[in-house]
Amino acid sequence: MDETFASQLLAQHATPMYLFDGEALQQRVSYLRSKLPQGVGLCYAIKANPFLAGYLAPLVERLELCSPGEYRICQEQNLSQSQFVVSGVYKTPEFIQEILPFSPAIFTVESMEQFQLLHRTAHDSGSPVSLLLRLTSGNQFGLEGDEILQILSEHKDDPHLHFKGIQYFSGTQKTSLKRLQRELNTVDEFMQTLETLLGHPMEELEFGPGFPVGYYVDDTFQEDEFLDGFSQILQNMTFSGTITLELGRSLVAHCGTYFTKVVDAKRNHKQNYAIVDGGMHQLVYYGQSMAMKLPPIRHITSHSPGNEESWNICGSLCTINDILVKQLPLPSLHVGDVLAFERAGAYCMTEGISLFLSRDLPAVLYRHPDGTVEELRPHLETHPLNAPCHKK
Ligand SMILES: Cc1ncc(COP(=O)(O)O)c(C=O)c1O
Repeated sequence: MDETFASQLLAQHATPMYLFDGEALQQRVSYLRSKLPQGVGLCYAIKANPFLAGYLAPLVERLELCSPGEYRICQEQNLSQSQFVVSGVYKTPEFIQEILPFSPAIFTVESMEQFQLLHRTAHDSGSPVSLLLRLTSGNQFGLEGDEILQILSEHKDDPHLHFKGIQYFSGTQKTSLKRLQRELNTVDEFMQTLETLLGHPMEELEFGPGFPVGYYVDDTFQEDEFLDGFSQILQNMTFSGTITLELGRSLVAHCGTYFTKVVDAKRNHKQNYAIVDGGMHQLVYYGQSMAMKLPPIRHITSHSPGNEESWNICGSLCTINDILVKQLPLPSLHVGDVLAFERAGAYCMTEGISLFLSRDLPAVLYRHPDGTVEELRPHLETHPLNAPCHKK
């Protein structure tokens, strides 16, 4: 982002705000596709940033949704239901009954109970349903391998059930290729067992590799090398069906910037403190602990540089934990300056304690690839959410 654009943006829009960049998003998808083997599909897990679902829909094969709220976000933008994978451990009968009979969406199956529900709804409505059976990675998600074998043995010929494939989610920020290789070997062997049972390979493996994002300036993560290694693992697999990678963080982290303004500056006990109008309720980086790590930050100021000093950048909440960065070296800092935190496109916005202190939610802006900026959400007051509904 160049300085002129940042100044124009700040002249027109109040902080705190998020900006998501459409060109960066497109480049990111192209980069990932260029590094992955041909034919590997991409599924965007919209929880990483629901605002980007509509912009990513034309760039990826699938959208993964995990709640009625996420479903509505996609539905209200008229996104194609044939792209939807409805996932998640908690699917109510009402939610399934609302979607299944009218939609080509795929459903994941996370338990025997969920399977019964989907099975019943498909039968009762007379509408076949496509299923991805989720194999557990050893937590509350998904089914045991034996349960998947049982479901397939008992129901493989049911005309209302289309067993499309297996879903497997490894975790997030997975930096170890060795661990991913071990998991993919296990999944690959399991796909072979299913092939023997069915007499043909399953159509698809939807795999969430949890590709990592290097969030901090001293991060040594070598993405090119990592993706080359991962692609090699995929190419060595015996499974011959389609592989779709279910990704959130790695697709969208790089396209986001969070802008927050310095509203006060002081020195307490020989430490410099800058108070900003945002804070930890609006900016959460994975792995950030006690504000010890340094994300990439751009300092936007109209002042000339002075002597470098270290600043503790603190947010606007009433808690001593609300520190965004400790000891940030800056060549002078003034009230009115803006700090732009980069790589803030994934989860940063939704994982914070945004209702604490009833502060407004930041505005959300999108910069289209042609350079025009659209406001996707204005600043929103949260105090009505923290007060009894009936008191006026
Ligand atoms: C089932 C599933 N798929 C995909 C993702 C996205 O993971 P990531 O953002 O690490 O790519 C998640 C994240 O929680 C998930 O639960």
